[in-house]
Amino acid sequence: MAKEFKRYTITAALPYTNGPIHIGHLAGVYVPADIYARYLRLQGSDVAFICGSDEHGVPITIKAKKEGVTPQDIVDKYHAIIKSSFEEFGITFDNYSRTSAKIHHDTASEFFKALYEDGKFIEEVTEQLYDEDANQFLADRFVIGTCPKCGNEESYGDQCENCGTSHNAIDLINPKSAITGAKPTLKQTKHWFLPLDQYEDFLKEWILKDHKKDWKSNVYGQCKSWIDDGLRPRAVTRDLDWGIPVPVEGGEGKVLYVWFDAPIGYISATKEWAKREGKDWEPYWKDEDTKLVHFIGKDNIVFHCIIFPSMLKAEGTYILPENVPANEFLNLEGNKLSTSKNWAVWLPEYLNDFPNQQDVLRYALTANAPETKDNDFTWKDFQARNNNELVAIFGNFINRVVVLTNKYYGGVVPSPSEFSKVDQETLAAVKAYPAVLSSSIERYRFREASQELMNLARLGNKYLADEEPWKVIKEDESRTKTIMFVALQIASALATLSEPFLPFTSNKLKSILSISSSASATLRADSVENSWKDISKNDILIPSDHQIGEAELLFSKIEDETIQKQLYKLQASKKANDIANAVVEPQKETITFDDFSKLDMRVGTIIEAEKMPKAKKLLVLKVDTGIDVRTIVSGIAESFTPEEVVGKKVTVLVNLAPRALRGVESQGMILMTETPEGKLVFVNPDDANASNGLKIS
Ligand code: 2FM
Ligand code: ZN
Repeated sequence: MAKEFKRYTITAALPYTNGPIHIGHLAGVYVPADIYARYLRLQGSDVAFICGSDEHGVPITIKAKKEGVTPQDIVDKYHAIIKSSFEEFGITFDNYSRTSAKIHHDTASEFFKALYEDGKFIEEVTEQLYDEDANQFLADRFVIGTCPKCGNEESYGDQCENCGTSHNAIDLINPKSAITGAKPTLKQTKHWFLPLDQYEDFLKEWILKDHKKDWKSNVYGQCKSWIDDGLRPRAVTRDLDWGIPVPVEGGEGKVLYVWFDAPIGYISATKEWAKREGKDWEPYWKDEDTKLVHFIGKDNIVFHCIIFPSMLKAEGTYILPENVPANEFLNLEGNKLSTSKNWAVWLPEYLNDFPNQQDVLRYALTANAPETKDNDFTWKDFQARNNNELVAIFGNFINRVVVLTNKYYGGVVPSPSEFSKVDQETLAAVKAYPAVLSSSIERYRFREASQELMNLARLGNKYLADEEPWKVIKEDESRTKTIMFVALQIASALATLSEPFLPFTSNKLKSILSISSSASATLRADSVENSWKDISKNDILIPSDHQIGEAELLFSKIEDETIQKQLYKLQASKKANDIANAVVEPQKETITFDDFSKLDMRVGTIIEAEKMPKAKKLLVLKVDTGIDVRTIVSGIAESFTPEEVVGKKVTVLVNLAPRALRGVESQGMILMTETPEGKLVFVNPDDANASNGLKIS
């Protein structure tokens, strides 16, 4: 039998504070964690839902350098932006803290000192990568090189984003400084290492032998493969000046590795919350009856399943996570989400473009969550989820129930007479839904759960469509009342059960139905409150004579133009980004004017064009150069059809020595340029006055 827990500590990965949050973060971590926490609260469970900003680490210092500001400026700016995005999307953290908080610096320092004093670290002078030009050690993301495991040439010093392997910077092949591009040298420095190899037996017991078979297979599989490969000591300190100072002798000028301090952030944020609430934080981290669950993305698995548990084990007084339901990645319109390439949907921008439509995004991301494999977010799917499910099923059902109740009974819930077999089956089916949803949610299958929720709305729609109260009212008022009573019970169940998934809609619906839901609800004469459990226990969720409010639309249709605008916006931001990041080729060696004057360039017009047989790239052109009409073979066939180029004004280098291409003599060259996206463009004398034969000088 599954263990009963007294309380839950739910953590969501602390986001790096070097940019806003995008849909990938929301889909992978924060929406599922929020569904879980809301669900547990509705069950009456004692929950601490914890998160905060991860404000240390190299990416923040790189961003600060780039913008010419201090790392503190960067984290202050993005902490505020991220925190408010979470609030706006209804992510109900009990505490959203930050790792620059004093309570966190103290907690992480004490944790380090406890391990240090207990002899849990290896202290060692080793050679680390050093950038002589920048005069600094190259920790983590300050160095880029080839991943020794998968061959990705853009791997960071501490982790490869391609295969997820976490490594030591000196393991990289062909390392390069991310600051100056220089080839690093090796320089000796002292660091403290957590000897992960000594935790192999514990990890084998805990993950492989113990009960972790109920972990998601992607998480279990990654852990197994790391443990099977053999673990090595990991440095938990760095030669950097941004972070938590190493609090022991010899630690001057060094800080804790960001991945040492960040997960301790969960503990400090819990302490901060408990203090504010007048609670004791310790049971949330030290009592075996607490269920600790970490929500993360797949790139964080090693840190939450191997390194942090080893740290907790080394300290000795903490519980370990019961589960780490890591998600895979979300792609966007077929491409990897990328902050640096600006290929993302940022939450502040979404809210700007879709005000008050947080639930639509929450739903689309949950229904298409990357739970077992990477998934693709497309704006078309987003539109379809909204129009075909939220509007056409959920919204449509609620609207019909509320409109008809108002129309027939002035908004007062009617009294039923005898229930038909269909009514009884329908009411019984409604009662079964909490268990169905619970089973999916407790196995972290939020996608499945969201579809079950929609099935409840489908059930409502089908019931109304089959029973047709709008027809029955003409001949049988009493039967109509029964039908509407049953439909109102379904609507009330939806109001409560949708809360974890669609919290804004659930609130609106409760307000329309004049009901509320709470964990410890009982039906009272003066108010209607339903808990999650009430839906399966109570025969009546909304009683006769209860007055409901007017109909209001829960969702509205999203038009094609709105979606098209988003697609254009994505393309435009990618383009702007490509241009900003385009590598401009360095200028060639200087030439003399005499060298230049040797080039004879003329305005010309393409008068004929045909494909070169059996050559993908070549067009054979006839060009009027003003001097003559000559043949030029040009490598533009992948960018232009022959029809497109006939009549085009072009710039021609006419005195290039003729050469044969596939047996055809080419007598010159047409000047072209190439955009960052690889599209060829004519260097075009696009002026009516530029007549053929004119010299370009
Ligand atoms: O990957 C990230 O965004 C990290 N900042 C996650 C940290 S999770 C935790 F350990 F704090
Ligand atoms: Zn790799």
